[in-house]
Amino acid sequence: MKITASAPGKVILFGEHSVVYGKPAIAVAVNRHVHITIQEGSDTLIHVHSPELEVSGYLELEDETVNCENKLKSGILNYILKSLKKIQDGTGSTFKKGLEITLELEIPIGAGLGSSAAVTVATLAAAFKYFNQEVDRKKLAQLAHEVELEVQGAASPIDTALSTYGGAIYLSPETGEIINLSLDWNIPLVIGHTLRESNTAQLIKTVRNKKERYPSILNPLFESMEQITLEAREALTRKDENRLGELMNINHGLLDALGVNTPVLSKMIYLARESGAKGSKITGAGGGGSIIAYCPGKEEEVLKQLKMEENAFPIQISQNGCQVKKI
Ligand code: PMV
Repeated sequence: MKITASAPGKVILFGEHSVVYGKPAIAVAVNRHVHITIQEGSDTLIHVHSPELEVSGYLELEDETVNCENKLKSGILNYILKSLKKIQDGTGSTFKKGLEITLELEIPIGAGLGSSAAVTVATLAAAFKYFNQEVDRKKLAQLAHEVELEVQGAASPIDTALSTYGGAIYLSPETGEIINLSLDWNIPLVIGHTLRESNTAQLIKTVRNKKERYPSILNPLFESMEQITLEAREALTRKDENRLGELMNINHGLLDALGVNTPVLSKMIYLARESGAKGSKITGAGGGGSIIAYCPGKEEEVLKQLKMEENAFPIQISQNGCQVKKI
């Protein structure tokens, strides 16, 4: 028996950092996925292998340890470990025969593109299927968010919701509710990403520290970010390309003011605009990681220029959330 599950990554269009202070955010699932394959093992161990990450190791659920030589890249295995543990504890079933798990990634890790949430959602879905248990999407998203909290200490529910449901979402600050945005038009985006990983927890701390030192300056910035997100929601609904691009540029300026920009990200952002993007900004926590460029009719040019500088690829919004099947 072999189970495969896939889940999409995500990009935040508007609202990173301000969302931490109760402001709204807009994010979309992207057509780049994480794929996980689970099959019964040949011994009692839970082996995990990822060709892209050049990671090979095994997990011990009893004492919750990850055994892997490639320490630099093995962090993502913690999400698999905690997900399997959660299923085992929650269902009362045990992986008696051990497992062979293969993890394939179409998105870079540590790039603010939701790889850890996608891995978590796909692992949970595959493990439920392995034990022939049904799980609805609401529960899947909730469990995945719990796993992210356990591994990271802090996480917004945006990434796990998008990896579960796909599509586009608006995170409402008042209720914490996740509202589906039905976008019936093509929003061509190009991602530029650096090899320097983004350390979300550290960047949240840096911003918080700045907010404490300059409350009268930073609080209005978060208010402005909120207005940007509200206006962007309208621009998305009205298909107003120019306004959407402009709002991205303004948002980027404010993220820069928070101190989460880097020279490399900045270079890519301006390069994208010079190559015809209507808007470009940091996506995610910053400090490394990725930018997004919104470039209707100019995808090829923007892609070419960004690739000459760093790594880049085009993305589309994906309506598909997590998919799982038994082979
Ligand atoms: O880089 P990411 O995808 O982890 O995004 C972080 C976005 C923050 O607003 C900084 C934190 C959060 O949990 O929303």
